[in-house]
Amino acid sequence: MSIYPLARNILFKLEPEQAHNLAFSAARIAQSTRIPLAVLRPIFRSHSQCLESNVFGLHFKTPIGLAAGFDKNAEIVPLMEALGFGFVEVGSVTNLPSKGNPQPRMFRLPDDEALINRMGLNNHGPDTLLENLRRHESSVPLGINIAKSHHPDIMEDKATEDMLSCYAQVVGAADYTVLNVSCPNTKDGKTFEEPESLGALLKAVVRKKNELDTRTPLLVKFSSDLSLGALEQAIAVCEEQGVDGYVMVNTSTSRANLQTSVGRLEEIGAGGLSGKPLQTKSLEKVKKAYSILKGSKPIIGLGGVDSPEFAYLLIKSGASLVQMYSGLVYKGPGLVKEINSGLIKLLQRDGLSSVNEAVGVET
Ligand SMILES: Cc1cc2nc3c(=O)[nH]c(=O)nc-3n(C[C@H](O)[C@H](O)[C@H](O)COP(=O)(O)O)c2cc1C
Repeated sequence: MSIYPLARNILFKLEPEQAHNLAFSAARIAQSTRIPLAVLRPIFRSHSQCLESNVFGLHFKTPIGLAAGFDKNAEIVPLMEALGFGFVEVGSVTNLPSKGNPQPRMFRLPDDEALINRMGLNNHGPDTLLENLRRHESSVPLGINIAKSHHPDIMEDKATEDMLSCYAQVVGAADYTVLNVSCPNTKDGKTFEEPESLGALLKAVVRKKNELDTRTPLLVKFSSDLSLGALEQAIAVCEEQGVDGYVMVNTSTSRANLQTSVGRLEEIGAGGLSGKPLQTKSLEKVKKAYSILKGSKPIIGLGGVDSPEFAYLLIKSGASLVQMYSGLVYKGPGLVKEINSGLIKLLQRDGLSSVNEAVGVET
């Protein structure tokens, strides 16, 4: 029986960021010696050969990974692996460390099983991230997610240089890298998802990748708010530059179709929406991207993953791998095992021998 409902009652009495910090402190203690990890591993593990896959030349024991933003400074990778995640994406890390926006900056929408955050890319920067990674060896593939430094003076060309510098510092420690291109990079709020600035950024990063002679796969993560036409254009730009894969979706600025009252939403204010309300957007984006790429490049699908059924739907819509963040807040760490075990059953039900066989069958 899961104790998370009880823990959740306690955690939900705290401010969301306080709860996150408390969970993080517990996580740091749990992984400070080998014993708790050795105890947790068999409890949370749900292993089957049918979950294993090779994507971007990397081996994944399960397709379920931790999304960026949860472990920004790569502090708890071993614990996440012990909880059953098949891969972990750390960051976003930025070239300049940042305290982020003033608190409160993270909010729960329990009626929607959603979160709104305007963290402002709080992170300790590349040096600390690398130091943390050196301290713990990861036995699962590790993604490093890179964003533009959260600083109003770093815009236009300087924004590309800033991302490039961060990329060059961290790429050697990553099994794959992700460019988080949905943050504003111009004074009027445009993002790197605009075809021109996306092209310029990718050209610079791919040149650096070649200079460094690294084969580490380079992925691009898109927002959930791109129209399907804009997504198609952005993918065309990425394909021209030889990107290795895609992560979709990031949070949304939309507040459409929520159960939470308008008054409460106004009180919360600006921020990116995540969790269950993103399901429609993540599905349509993954489907669209798969219809363009036709399996030539892997897609990591996320946005509202909270059950084996939805993870499976994302896979059948074209995602080779799946990530989650908000689902963990609402359902706890047992969700990872629930999804892994559920996927095994769903694959068996459909007579499929591996996750690979399920990718894109519904497009
Ligand atoms: C508090 C919070 C912080 C986040 N920080 C980042 C980040 O730094 N970089 C990033 O690429 N995505 C970040 N995300 C977005 C998630 O990685 C993910 O794309 C989004 O939450 C949708 O997935 P979910 O519905 O499973 O939460 C953050 C999400 C949350 C809730």
